[in-house]
Amino acid sequence: MHNLFILGSPRLNGNSETMAKTVAKAIEHTPENSVEFIHLNKLNIAPCLGCGGCSTTGNCVIDDDMVQLYTKTDAADRLFFVSPIYFYAMTAQIKAYIDRCQAKWSRKYLLREAHRPNEPRTGYLLSCAATKGDKLFDGPILSIKCLCDALDLKYGSPLLMRDLESRQALKNHPDKLSVCEAFGTAIATQGL
Ligand SMILES: Cc1cc2nc3c(=O)[nH]c(=O)nc-3n(C[C@H](O)[C@H](O)[C@H](O)COP(=O)(O)O)c2cc1C
Repeated sequence: MHNLFILGSPRLNGNSETMAKTVAKAIEHTPENSVEFIHLNKLNIAPCLGCGGCSTTGNCVIDDDMVQLYTKTDAADRLFFVSPIYFYAMTAQIKAYIDRCQAKWSRKYLLREAHRPNEPRTGYLLSCAATKGDKLFDGPILSIKCLCDALDLKYGSPLLMRDLESRQALKNHPDKLSVCEAFGTAIATQGL
């Protein structure tokens, strides 16, 4: 299984990246799993123009780093959408990626070309925030459910962590790191 981690935080080695790396390490311990990380902030991915170009071709009119990411998105068996909470939403970097997946939505719903619809592929939200509010992750959960539908992914259980503010916060929290590790192990062994 190929596990693609799409990292939405502009802060390198921060909490959401630590979540992703800890989950990935647990998955990698299980045979026949490969992992790959994409730092969206290192790529050039323009926001969707809403031009409707993809509605007739299934392809986006913009020629940027999203072109390679469409291919990687199609090839992965598990996709992990990783973002800290910014103002109760995901970061602009990952929102640009999500919106550019409108080309995939067009293929599925307008052109009737679902991608690998009968294969057991899954998408997961990994997210963290500084505060403890009940509704912190409500927006991202809805967005990722909608994205998974467009990409023909089953929506998997999310991994959500509150009370993480400074860059090193999660690294200094063994209990929370154990939760990340257990999450990765459960995915690899039980297909959570
Ligand atoms: C622009 C911005 C907006 C944020 N908005 C929120 C918020 O609405 N709620 C919250 O709990 N934390 C918020 N945070 C804090 C981050 O979610 C938190 O520090 C998180 O651990 C950062 O993850 P990272 O290290 O992977 O970047 C915000 C941080 C930034 C920089």
